[in-house]
Amino acid sequence: MMTGKEIREKYLKFFKERGHRILPSASLIPHNDPSILWTAAGMVPFKPFFTGQAVPEYKRVTTCQKCIRTPDIESVGRTARHHTFFEMLGNFSFGDYFKESAIPWAWEFVTEYLNLPKEKLWITIYLDDDEAFKIWNKEVGVPAERIVRMGKDTNFWEIGVGPCGPCSEIYVDLGESRGCGSPDCQVGCDCDRFLEIWNLVFIQFFRDEEGNYSPLENKGIDTGMGLERVASVLQGVASNFDTDLFREIMDFTADLAGQKYGQDSKIDLALKVIADHCRAVTFAVSDGALPGNEGRGYVIRRLLRRAVRFGRVLGVHEPFLYKVSQAVITQMKDAYPELQQKSEHVLRVIRTEEERFLETLAAGSDILSALINEAKAGGVSEITGQDAFRLYDTFGFPLELTQEIAAEQGLTVDEDGFAAAMEEQRKRARSARQETEYLSERGVLYKACGKNWGKPALWATAPWKPIPTYWHC
Ligand code: GLY
Repeated sequence: MMTGKEIREKYLKFFKERGHRILPSASLIPHNDPSILWTAAGMVPFKPFFTGQAVPEYKRVTTCQKCIRTPDIESVGRTARHHTFFEMLGNFSFGDYFKESAIPWAWEFVTEYLNLPKEKLWITIYLDDDEAFKIWNKEVGVPAERIVRMGKDTNFWEIGVGPCGPCSEIYVDLGESRGCGSPDCQVGCDCDRFLEIWNLVFIQFFRDEEGNYSPLENKGIDTGMGLERVASVLQGVASNFDTDLFREIMDFTADLAGQKYGQDSKIDLALKVIADHCRAVTFAVSDGALPGNEGRGYVIRRLLRRAVRFGRVLGVHEPFLYKVSQAVITQMKDAYPELQQKSEHVLRVIRTEEERFLETLAAGSDILSALINEAKAGGVSEITGQDAFRLYDTFGFPLELTQEIAAEQGLTVDEDGFAAAMEEQRKRARSARQETEYLSERGVLYKACGKNWGKPALWATAPWKPIPTYWHC
């Protein structure tokens, strides 16, 4: 079995031998790029090299980049492949080689170094990319019927403002048994049969803020191979969570909680979510992110709270995430030495946030249970927006958390009502700000930090902090 570590090393070595400089992963917090919250792909740190804004020291580079993507947070653990944190292997050319090298190298690596059977591989190309077709078909020898032309939605790659271009993907056919059974099932189908493992992007345009594309002077290559996915294929397991990259963390958590993976779907889901979120939080905090109420901080807070809540599913009611985080650090520190250097800080941040949230959760959970019971007794299937907002405002319960707990009991939450209550609060906050202008933020914070709990009107309307609980203290 090829471990995640071995795949990572093999990939970097392969490209090093082909003239690439191995660079360490860049920070998860993008520098000078307001168009994105997180480094979400291997090419993000290199945008200025593709555009010519900066001159790279090396024209060929290879990395294993830490990435965070959060739009599918609810799907984590429920599907085989969704993650908030993942590692992306990539090779990059800044105005050096183009398709003629990127395509044959990708084929050589997957067939000769990863030993994936050629007859199980499928290729996609952008609709009119005849050049890529020719290279795949004539030079590499992939049969024409296994090269599929696809549209912009799948085969044109872009991320925020910056360099972008048409792309070509390599898929593995995992076999009929993994498919949906539909006669139309083919590459691009939503089911689990065809798994995309590598995306080769032919960088040749620049996308501006308005969504206009202009050709770049120098063409480049940006590729992305998801480490966890490839590991799942090579290790012959059904999901990324069953690879060594996750199992070590999940087994550690299971031991901690006196549980076992693979016996109960609810426990399994909790173990997966905790492993995923804890990886994301550990790496993000080591790169300088901190829990907060906005932007990146809110993402960290949300991930951490979801993980804590899933800890309760495992029967863990004390702080435990910082211990899982230590397991993440132990597993990943060789590939990412910064984890070890920052470990004390990371564990302290996680533990503090966790302790505070557990206190908040205890108070809010009782109230939410009462609301759910009340709704059920009255034959109502929805928690009102006002109640959800009160939980958010007073106990720091994110809407998603209320929704998740309510859904477990078959109830929904009135989202429009929640948004309306939030807007109301904003209006109140604006007028309160005018009235309390003499109070500095520090002054308000001081009162919100337990010295003046008797004046809820003040902290409930504090304009600078929509969740006036005590985790800032
Ligand atoms: N930048 C290529 C990818 O993330 O797929």
